[in-house]
Amino acid sequence: MQTETEILQAAAGMLLAWYPAHRRDLPWRQNRNFYTVLVSELMLQQTRVEAVKERYVAFLEKFPTEEELALASEDEVMKAWEGLGYYTRARNLQKAAKTLFAEGTPRTWVGVKRLAGVGDYTAGAISSIALGLKEPAVDGNVLRILTRLLADGSVVDDPAVKKRFTEMLREVYPDETADFCEGLMELGATVCLPNGAPLCDRCPWNTLCRAHLSGEEARYPVRAQKRARRVENLEVFVLTCNGKYALRKRADGLLKGLWEFPNRTPPPCPPPTEGASDRDLAEGASDEDSSCFTEEASDRGLAEGSAGFRILAAKRAKHVFTHVEWQMIGCLAEVAEEDPRFVWVTAEEIRREYAVPSAFKAFSQWVH
Ligand code: ADE
Repeated sequence: MQTETEILQAAAGMLLAWYPAHRRDLPWRQNRNFYTVLVSELMLQQTRVEAVKERYVAFLEKFPTEEELALASEDEVMKAWEGLGYYTRARNLQKAAKTLFAEGTPRTWVGVKRLAGVGDYTAGAISSIALGLKEPAVDGNVLRILTRLLADGSVVDDPAVKKRFTEMLREVYPDETADFCEGLMELGATVCLPNGAPLCDRCPWNTLCRAHLSGEEARYPVRAQKRARRVENLEVFVLTCNGKYALRKRADGLLKGLWEFPNRTPPPCPPPTEGASDRDLAEGASDEDSSCFTEEASDRGLAEGSAGFRILAAKRAKHVFTHVEWQMIGCLAEVAEEDPRFVWVTAEEIRREYAVPSAFKAFSQWVH
């Protein structure tokens, strides 16, 4: 019987033979320049390849080198990042660009890891892809393919398990560090798919994979129980006056530094009447629901002081973050005066200059 190291060694060779003919042609694979690899790896943290593809190209057109990014304003960076979510990454990327600009490119894993926004996985990926270092990058995808390969029932959420797999990979890391690192990612993304749906007939490891050989692919990876998300209710106001819309900047916490429609935690409000439509909410066809937006309108803090508050539309929307879920009810309302607590800007200005997070997308549709 083969040892785990022997299996991994054989798997590494098979992966390197498979990868060149099966790699997707992704824009960040056109060169292995440190700065561009850094940009792609930060963008790809928690974000799907499809969503990153076009944004990556546009971002690099705007900030082609660390110098342009280092010297940009925060608002410019946020605007270029708009819609990608997890905006702390954008701030970190700019910080990292400033470090590169001031100090030059790091040459070791430790140097890479010191850059803002770079954790163990990203440091491994950048080191392998841009620096040719034998430093594994192990995330949930890599753990999935390796636990299947070895039919390993360890709980993959345990940091000790990640560490063990990192060390096992390090032992067999080939000289073709970039192809090996990308090959592992590629296998996880295109063949060894999550949720018990791997495409084993296309897999270069199908003669080697212990889970496949015993028909137990679906048993791996073993995961710990997930914690439930916290639900937060939010009332969102798209206020319009003289062809402009009210925005304000989020001062801290989640989505800090981005622009939002005025909103607040709603006061206690009766649950929606069954069967009430969004239109009912706006027009008061259902008395209970409409009280959320109409009867109290003059006294709702955000709309307070907005003479002539008149609701044009209303709807509910939901946005799911990693640890929080926003359940929103929003209205489009005309007001007679521009409340000075907000900035008032046209739809065109919002589109060009103001980064409004996708959490508010359902309500941005009213802005045109
Ligand atoms: N996910 C994280 N880094 C990646 C990369 N370089 N290519 C594809 N998917 C990725």
